[in-house]
Amino acid sequence: MKTEALSVSVPYLIEQDYSAYTDEQHAVWAELVGRVLPELEKHASRAYLDGFEIIGLQRDRLPRLSAISARLEPRTGWNSTPVSGFLPAPAFFEMLAARRFPTTTWLRSRESLEYTPEPDIFHDVFGHVPMHAHKVFAEFLERYGSVCASIKDETVLEKLGRLFWYTVEFGLIREHNEIKVYGSGLISSHGECLNVIEGHCAIHDFSLDEVLATPVKVDELHKLLFAVSSFDQIYEAMHEAESRARQNRL
Ligand SMILES: [Fe+2]
Repeated sequence: MKTEALSVSVPYLIEQDYSAYTDEQHAVWAELVGRVLPELEKHASRAYLDGFEIIGLQRDRLPRLSAISARLEPRTGWNSTPVSGFLPAPAFFEMLAARRFPTTTWLRSRESLEYTPEPDIFHDVFGHVPMHAHKVFAEFLERYGSVCASIKDETVLEKLGRLFWYTVEFGLIREHNEIKVYGSGLISSHGECLNVIEGHCAIHDFSLDEVLATPVKVDELHKLLFAVSSFDQIYEAMHEAESRARQNRL
């Protein structure tokens, strides 16, 4: 792995000890995948489903990050890079700017299939990494990291965090007049995904102004999410957000 572009994130880099995963952990992975995949085959975006095949995710075995990256890197330059846990913001942004997705290697237990307070390998790889095979999304995510890495103002970063939340984590896309999910928090949470599919959540057309004005709530199912018409829209929104941030008018 090339890590020459990294500095503040270096202390968080680890190796994935693949042989240490137990049969029980592979079985938990298979159960996590099995309980969401039937819904996702109907309701996930084409980009996510294509990415799932491209990176070679398996339904019954935990992913080996080096194998995932070997399939992903030639396509978009992204790498799923093992880290020790939750990263401070500067380290997180630095890794995104270098197309290194900080990926946890631990897996939730069978007792907490639906929810973990911190991301695990299921959220990070199953939820996030397939989208990194999409060229426009891949560009957006790198740009997001490099812009945020250069900003120190916490208020501006909080606003940009809303853009991340309502796209990367909880984004929706309209495909042939149907709402599809692509955000990792929807992909990797049965409850959040059903909340959208069953119509309990309002869906507005994506607008940068409305996204920036909508605070993030982490303690309840979403009541409002945003649907793009194509991933070009979030790429363009990132450019607009960057230019507003530089002019202090975000
Ligand atoms: Fe996430």
